Amino acid sequence: MKVLKSLLLLLLLSTLIAGVAPAEDYDEEPIAYSRRPADDAVARLQRRIAAGEVTLTWDDRHGWLPSLLKQLDIPVSSQVLVFSKTSLQREFIAPDRPRALYFNDEVYIGTVQHSEVIEIASTDPRQGTMFYVGNNRRSGMKTERQTHECLQCHDSNAFTGGVPGLMMRSVFPGQDGRPILTAGSHVTDHRSPLPQRWGGWFVTGTTGTLGHLGNQIFSENITPEHADPLRGAGRTSLVGLLDTDPYLTPHSDVVALLVLGHQVQMHNLLTRASYEGRRALRDDLVMNEALGRPLDFRSDTFRRRIASVGEALLRFLLYADEASLTGTVRGTSTFAADFQAHGPRDTQGRSLRDLDLERRLLKHPLSHLIYSQSFDALPPPIHAYVLERLLTVLTATVTDDRYNRLTLADRRAVLEILVATKPGLPPGFATALR
Ligand code: HEC
Repeated sequence: MKVLKSLLLLLLLSTLIAGVAPAEDYDEEPIAYSRRPADDAVARLQRRIAAGEVTLTWDDRHGWLPSLLKQLDIPVSSQVLVFSKTSLQREFIAPDRPRALYFNDEVYIGTVQHSEVIEIASTDPRQGTMFYVGNNRRSGMKTERQTHECLQCHDSNAFTGGVPGLMMRSVFPGQDGRPILTAGSHVTDHRSPLPQRWGGWFVTGTTGTLGHLGNQIFSENITPEHADPLRGAGRTSLVGLLDTDPYLTPHSDVVALLVLGHQVQMHNLLTRASYEGRRALRDDLVMNEALGRPLDFRSDTFRRRIASVGEALLRFLLYADEASLTGTVRGTSTFAADFQAHGPRDTQGRSLRDLDLERRLLKHPLSHLIYSQSFDALPPPIHAYVLERLLTVLTATVTDDRYNRLTLADRRAVLEILVATKPGLPPGFATALR
């Protein structure tokens, strides 16, 4: 009860500070976000625990966390550490006591030292990101779904694109980890130049010739132009910055941070496409009924809406606006190996998860979330639009289109890997290879 009370107080504070009212209309049909039961990895795990099929085990040092990660198939190597006081439990977060995040393709977990609250965000293929709190107390692990409490921050036009979603910010943290508001902040994803990323995060690993804002405390009068991205860059260990003993690993791996940056926004765009597609279908149906048109008639407005959200999704799937890397990026944990090990691979051994880490994140730039249930569960018109446009881009014979970052060889490789590894593609994909 005490935990709940302090949570509520924090939440109240967070609304005041965030100052953004959540757009509530996803609580209306056809989405009904809060009302529909969730069907994500955490909801499924909850059901299996309740049925006695799975039991979590308690660890004296880390509580339920290691067992939870194991059951949800989240690699410990995905650990990244964020020390800015930017999230829910910020009173417990400080530069020498960062918050630890762990993730796989669909679930994100946050823990904070000295707190019994485990924060979880998990992807429902149709409804988008679901939020949970779990309690890290020996008496028993229980996860409870949350809505408004988390959406105060996890829904904003600026951060998540107006859907319940995920966030990755880069701030200028002061001595105690509080963001220096006058210096501003960036919402970051794979499009953000490295020198703007990871303010308020620890970063272990090298980043070529480019620096970043991680591993740094800033003075109160800092202006963004005067920040030195090389000051905190190139650290392969956090020794001397904090005691990493209480954490599962001593890493805040740079490759994990790069993948996290991509995924966070990719998930938000998938959610947006899912919502917008269903709303567009509903609106057409209402109009068709009102005007006595055939119920499957598709208006121009409908087509425009699908194209607009579909094209944004495709650009992000193809890393069309990715910020370049220059020089070798290398992490310190086994994250890169663990990430690549998931495949799937074609007969030549290639995978969409193969990392480049010299010029860009991926060798074959198409998001691994093309394999996600969220992608497959997109409303049919959006799903069809994105695949049709994807095929057009991948089979283009010149590169003077809006996807000119992809060479013809890139496109061919992506097409070949996709045909070999993704079942259920429209027949045009395989035909294009003949
Ligand atoms: C005060 C604003 C705020 C509130 C309230 C909040 N969060 Fe967050 N959350 C953040 C920010 C900002 C990040 C990005 C990482 C960081 O800065 O710590 C984040 C990141 C996360 C992440 C990692 C995935 C991601 O989006 O990057 C999880 C998991 C998470 N939050 C869960 C929750 C849950 C569960 C709740 C509700 C119980 C919640 N959060 C409430 C601000 C908030």
